[in-house]
Amino acid sequence: MKPILTSAGRYPRLRRAGSVAAALVLGAGLPVALANPVNAAVACEVEYTITNSWGNGFNANVSLTNLADSVNGWTLEWDFPGNQRVVNAWNGQATQSGAHVSIENPGWSTTLGSGSTVDIGFTATYSGANDLPTEFTLNGVACDGEVDPGPDPDPDPDPDPTDRVDNPYEGADVYVNPQWSERAAAEPGGDAVADQPTGVWMDRISAIEGNGSPTTGTMGLRDHLDEAVEQAGGEPLVFQVVIYNLPGRDCAALASNGELDPHEIERYQTEFIDPIAEILADPAYADLRIVTTIEIDSLPNLVTNVGSRETATPECDEMLRNGNYVNGVGYALDQLGDIPNVYNYIDAGHHGWIGWESNFTPSAEIFHEAATSNGATVDDVHGFIANTANYSALVEENFSVSDTINGQPIRGQSQWIDWNNYVDELSFSQALREELVRVGFNSDIGMLIDTSRNGWGGDERPTGPGPRTSADAYVDGGRFDRRIHIGNWCNQAGAGLGERPTAAPEPGIDAYVWMKPPGESDGSSEEIPNPEGKGFDRMCDPTFTEGTPRNGNNPSGALPDAPLSGHWFSAQFQQLLENAHPPVQ
Ligand code: BGC
Repeated sequence: MKPILTSAGRYPRLRRAGSVAAALVLGAGLPVALANPVNAAVACEVEYTITNSWGNGFNANVSLTNLADSVNGWTLEWDFPGNQRVVNAWNGQATQSGAHVSIENPGWSTTLGSGSTVDIGFTATYSGANDLPTEFTLNGVACDGEVDPGPDPDPDPDPDPTDRVDNPYEGADVYVNPQWSERAAAEPGGDAVADQPTGVWMDRISAIEGNGSPTTGTMGLRDHLDEAVEQAGGEPLVFQVVIYNLPGRDCAALASNGELDPHEIERYQTEFIDPIAEILADPAYADLRIVTTIEIDSLPNLVTNVGSRETATPECDEMLRNGNYVNGVGYALDQLGDIPNVYNYIDAGHHGWIGWESNFTPSAEIFHEAATSNGATVDDVHGFIANTANYSALVEENFSVSDTINGQPIRGQSQWIDWNNYVDELSFSQALREELVRVGFNSDIGMLIDTSRNGWGGDERPTGPGPRTSADAYVDGGRFDRRIHIGNWCNQAGAGLGERPTAAPEPGIDAYVWMKPPGESDGSSEEIPNPEGKGFDRMCDPTFTEGTPRNGNNPSGALPDAPLSGHWFSAQFQQLLENAHPPVQ
């Protein structure tokens, strides 16, 4: 993937509309004129970002923010500096004459509210330079950010971020899901961990009300929150909820495909996020610290599994093209971020996925793009979570990325490490935090690391470094993570429970958490018809030896006889207990 080029910064992002002065002039002092689109004040800003480019074409996102009064019917225009030609656009109707481009509102959404943003995407052809257009107009008025700041007629609805504590886990207990707890306690030896906090997954619209499925059980979101209020008993209590239902979910795998089609962003917003936001905003829950994990795996997929990469899938290409992952995440962040006791953490993959240089900064940039889309701002983001539902080791103690063997760096020589810059989640999470701040997130963001299944203990755990005979012998002999390949992700044989949930364990890390409830399957090892939208992914089939480009064409390393993703998998739970590290007492 080509680097993301952005002209952000050229067009100052002004949060305050401050359009009162302009409105008075244009509206001639008649209050009624303010409601009249013809006379309404117009002020806007535009961020034009090339999101992907190849030989003779590119995709761009044009983020148009209305800094003044709501307009009903809008047209955005610009001139291309070169021979760029728009082929097709979404979230707007494009026409082009010579270099002049005009994007009219889509028929299904004519209004652009005050303070709201529309992300228009397009594909274009070009040759030679692909210089960015520099001037934009909205309904004929220049979008130059030149707005008199004036008084604030549209106060930012986002609450003051200082209302939130810096680290919600500090000094707090964390909610124990009674349904998970009961299943864990019913397993031999499970009592020892059954009182650990795990994430509550909103993985379908029906999970909000409680759908009685083996995945989410009979408790809906309100039932959990009511139970959390009971558990809190007046003390601060963190309630961890996973928001996981994007349109076209899980575009590079099949096991967790969801119920919404790639284009169903409207349903995602109105039938999933809005009702969740309404429940979370109930004053009855105002004393809880609600930690959200926002949309696992989605944004990293738009970096690594698209375009001309060998790992690309048509489904991820589609989600990049239609913008619905970015817009969905933006919407979730914005709506949930408006609730003063919600702490949003965006899913950030894991080191074995985005630790390579070609993935690291582009991922941070796409997180930033999502966090400034569809109404969201970086103030809606409290932090990021790494390793959700994955198996990457927390710390590899027997080697580090800068080690050498016979004077040669192991990085680039060891097949396990490849050219990755990180060998474990802790170093990766701390470095990613810095990178996220560099690309524009607040400097006080914190990281979570899911340690539910990355313990890799038991009899097979190496007790020291491997032999220094070759980079492979050294790394493979010493690594705790005993997967066949770091791209393997489904019900991994040999895995164990990792660090127990802990607040503020390391600098920059808000907590180690068990966001994935240990014992819940990652996917079925053979096809099982189901009403949950879940597919069969051969990465969950232990007999699948040829693999995919995403696991270097290696065997899947999955346990046999697994049920559908999210369903209870007793044999896996028992293996996790057995191989726990630290061991379970
Ligand atoms: C499944 C969800 C489930 C979650 C937690 C995901 O892989 O798709 O249905 O709730 O895991 O176990």
